[in-house]
Amino acid sequence: MTTTTTPKTSHSLAIAARGLRKSYGDKTVLDGIDLAVPAGTVFSLLGPNGAGKTTAVKILSTLISADAGELRVGGYDLAADPQAVRAAIGVTGQFSAVDGLITGEENMLLMADLHHLSRSEGRRTAAELLERFDLTEAAKKPASTYSGGMKRRLDIAMTLVGSPRIIFLDEPTTGLDPRARHTMWQIIRDLVTGGVTVFLTTQYLEEADELADRIAVLSNGRIAAEGTAEELKRLIPGGHVRLRFTDPAAYQGAATALREATGDDEALTLQIPSGGSQRELRSILDWLDTAGIEADELTVHTPDLDDVFFALTGDTDTTSSTAGTANTTNNANVPTQSKENAR
Ligand SMILES: Nc1ncnc2c1ncn2[C@@H]1O[C@H](COP(=O)(O)OP(=O)(O)O)[C@@H](O)[C@H]1O
Ligand SMILES: [Mg+2]
Repeated sequence: MTTTTTPKTSHSLAIAARGLRKSYGDKTVLDGIDLAVPAGTVFSLLGPNGAGKTTAVKILSTLISADAGELRVGGYDLAADPQAVRAAIGVTGQFSAVDGLITGEENMLLMADLHHLSRSEGRRTAAELLERFDLTEAAKKPASTYSGGMKRRLDIAMTLVGSPRIIFLDEPTTGLDPRARHTMWQIIRDLVTGGVTVFLTTQYLEEADELADRIAVLSNGRIAAEGTAEELKRLIPGGHVRLRFTDPAAYQGAATALREATGDDEALTLQIPSGGSQRELRSILDWLDTAGIEADELTVHTPDLDDVFFALTGDTDTTSSTAGTANTTNNANVPTQSKENAR
């Protein structure tokens, strides 16, 4: 399911990679990966530490060269026209570009200089961006005194000085506290609302789930899976609706009526395989109403991206540990409920 749906034309793609390869010595980091990121979307490259995320970002942002691959960013060929690519993109690295010894404002003005803005234009842009990222008050303080969240905000503000259409964010929330992380998420959403394409790397499944239109899971140098969060979750068994009863007679009646459900006679619970979509839930509820069955509790259990991630990137020797908590019971239902249900 990796790239068969990739459009052939790359005009609408902000980032397109085919057969991207990179090795360090005899270590293959990227083993011929394909990426397709439509303009104006958030694409998340998800992978554990050392998977090759930063390597991919560095290549796509022209900082290092690939060993092989057909690469286009912002419509420009990376090998033929790296300058044009550079003009179209902004990069916020895993390790901040912020200089702690100078103030936030000075960092911004430095970026304005790098982008050849005039003095007045530089000052205006710096002031606007500092304001937008809630850094006006701290603008005159050395950046070393900033909190982690403030530094990341300054980093992004610096990236935006050149008005890039495509932004690479390499683990923008790693190490941030939950509040700063949510602020960063909102910043990313606002960027996309403004028409920017975001290429986001993260180790956090929750983050990819929250922000990304599409997610690619990088594992062992390859894209192990690619799709929307929902599509990825459907790859993994175990989504179900659980009905709990207090009245044994009601439970028995329901168990008899619901043939596809798996019952637990002790706990008086029934599990119905389900992807958890609104449509599926409605049909289950309608069905229960029609059958006159009233459960005391109805809960939806969907496999989360964690399950997907561990199943795809996990060690092959430890397949038994790939299942999450909610998906150990009805493995038999699995294979049929991947893609068809998505439509
Ligand atoms: N300059 C380099 N020289 C040698 N090996 C490198 C270099 N940069 C990265 N690597 C190796 O490539 C692999 C991928 O690294 P990286 O892209 O930083 O992963 P990630 O960002 O997903 O954590 C790691 O095994 C790392 O040690
Ligand atoms: Mg990295």
